[in-house]
Amino acid sequence: GTEPDFTSSPHPSLDFHLHAMSGHARASTLFFPPRPSINRKAPVSVPTPIFMPVGTKGTIKSMSYEELCTVKSLSPPIILGNTYHLALDPGTDVLDSFGGLHNFSSWPGALLTDSGGFQMVSLLKLAEITEAGVEFESPYAKDNKKKILLKPEESIRTQNSIGADVMMQLDDVVSSIHDGDERFEEATYRTLRWLDRCIESNINKEEQNLFAIVQGGLDVSLGGLREVCLEGFRRRDDKIPGYAIGGLAGGESKDDFWKVVSQCCKSLPTNKPRYLMGVGYPLDLVVCTALGVDMYDCVYPTRTARFGVALVDDRSPGTMRVKSNEYSLDERTLEPNCDCPCCKLGKGYSRSKLHMMLKSGEPLAAQLMTAHNIAYMMRLVRKMRKAILEGKYEEFVRSYIKKFFPDGY
Ligand code: GUN
Ligand code: ZN
Repeated sequence: GTEPDFTSSPHPSLDFHLHAMSGHARASTLFFPPRPSINRKAPVSVPTPIFMPVGTKGTIKSMSYEELCTVKSLSPPIILGNTYHLALDPGTDVLDSFGGLHNFSSWPGALLTDSGGFQMVSLLKLAEITEAGVEFESPYAKDNKKKILLKPEESIRTQNSIGADVMMQLDDVVSSIHDGDERFEEATYRTLRWLDRCIESNINKEEQNLFAIVQGGLDVSLGGLREVCLEGFRRRDDKIPGYAIGGLAGGESKDDFWKVVSQCCKSLPTNKPRYLMGVGYPLDLVVCTALGVDMYDCVYPTRTARFGVALVDDRSPGTMRVKSNEYSLDERTLEPNCDCPCCKLGKGYSRSKLHMMLKSGEPLAAQLMTAHNIAYMMRLVRKMRKAILEGKYEEFVRSYIKKFFPDGY
């Protein structure tokens, strides 16, 4: 059946139903239980494959939750926030006093938070990682370069204050293209040890799911580090409601990227969700879903919208730079069949009008472009799900790739 049954699930805070597979591609539903503490009366269901828009500080930039939730073409069932940013602002005192981020920002859907380590390592070059945690200099001038230590316990404490439906473990993230072999080995074992510390310190297991993150560089060989990490997780599987694949989308080749994703999907248990962190481009979603991934997040669709780039289906390579002069007199909407607040099925804002607004820095342009790109991603994941449920995912992938690369891929 497709109704949630939290009592029979080993994880009372998540019920996972796998409906169909087409090749390795999966269509499933995640159910999050009602939560009186955040005024959630009915379960929230998340159909997969799913793309999670990124609201780093609790807001999808330029979008109101009213528009996001009431406009049917948008309506993401789950969004992502970042522990690191939210810990600094508004901070745990404010979050605790509101009873979490859902209440603070009036977000009714499901929420996933990343643990913070990755953001610090990628944003702040000065982060130093030790067994205790990730140490970094405060980014605020008023703190006069005060050192802050983010421990696994601290990350979970903050994520408990945020109240996310899915929390991510603190992991030791290594740059695939900058670091040596020894650093990868240390990071893999440390990620396993930090997982144990995170599990131990979660004080809200009834409502908040803690996902583990597979690390281990690009070595997919038998007995390689990815396998070491996956084997470590297998021994802890009864304590893990879901899994993420990390350490990718950092500048490695597509070939390495796909190999790691494929290997992880083959080794991960089939009865739990799989989330590929920081991915990605529409084409990445199409390909990685074929390899067995269920969940994605990336700033790309919303960030590129603010720079004036629309995601579109009818041209190679799937993007439209609306600022470009070729659109200055173009009366068409971004996509004729898009029912987003910007396109309105061909009756919305013209490319010409958007072009003009983008050139003059009108904030409405960023808002409309963001809405379109979110609608594009939501439409894409719905189409993928439909194809999987019909057992036609391979055909879907072929036709998608052919559309973008008519001359061969
Ligand atoms: N976001 C993108 N990649 C990663 C990763 O490897 N770890 C974490 N925590 N977040 C990420
Ligand atoms: Zn649109």
